[in-house]
Amino acid sequence: MNYKISPSILAADFNNLGDAIALVEKEGADYLHVDVMDGVFVPSISFGMPVIKSIRKKSSLFFDVHLMIVDPDRYIETFAECGADGITVHLEASKDVDRTLSLIRKTGKRVGLSISPETPVSEITDEMLKKTDMVLVMTVRPGFGGQKYMEECTAKIEEVRRRSNELGLEMDIQVDGGIDKNTITTVTKAGANVIVMGSSIFNGDISENMKYYKKVLGI
Ligand code: DX5
Ligand code: ZN
Repeated sequence: MNYKISPSILAADFNNLGDAIALVEKEGADYLHVDVMDGVFVPSISFGMPVIKSIRKKSSLFFDVHLMIVDPDRYIETFAECGADGITVHLEASKDVDRTLSLIRKTGKRVGLSISPETPVSEITDEMLKKTDMVLVMTVRPGFGGQKYMEECTAKIEEVRRRSNELGLEMDIQVDGGIDKNTITTVTKAGANVIVMGSSIFNGDISENMKYYKKVLGI
């Protein structure tokens, strides 16, 4: 399995954001997870285009942009221009998911589709899966870092892996929320390969945390 760590900057010290990003990059992170929240799809508001543009200047990491915004079609091109390498939208936030996925594909960026914990995997049709490079199975309610992993999401990861295997797709499966030393093996065993971590990477010693999780994943 091709494992990747995607540190979520939501948990970083924004006073030293550039340094924190440089450090995870130096320690061999593959992706950088960028959580965009609009205060409507989720209760909180995080950051948007100007921040992404600014950090893009100094990082060559793959920018894995997680859009927690309603009606994401409005902003897909803008985020692509700002420096996203992959754009993930929420199934629950789009009026026409097939159209939204096509819009991302048109930008040439990697296509991500996310489901919140209360959304069953069956809401993702085969057609949607075929248009998607990465399914993000949220393992907490989107909106805040530092929450506890929701055990009931493990079966959803397994289900997405099974469905994509049945369709013969080489799907990336991402998990986001509550991933730490106690839950990381649960999600990898279930079939996840792109691991988002906020608190587990940015709280404490960033270098040590990166080294620890790389070792756990064997990368
Ligand atoms: C939550 C965000 C996550 C968050 C994860 O809505 O999508 O990316 O940063 O934080 P942790 O890893 O602390 O649960
Ligand atoms: Zn996220």
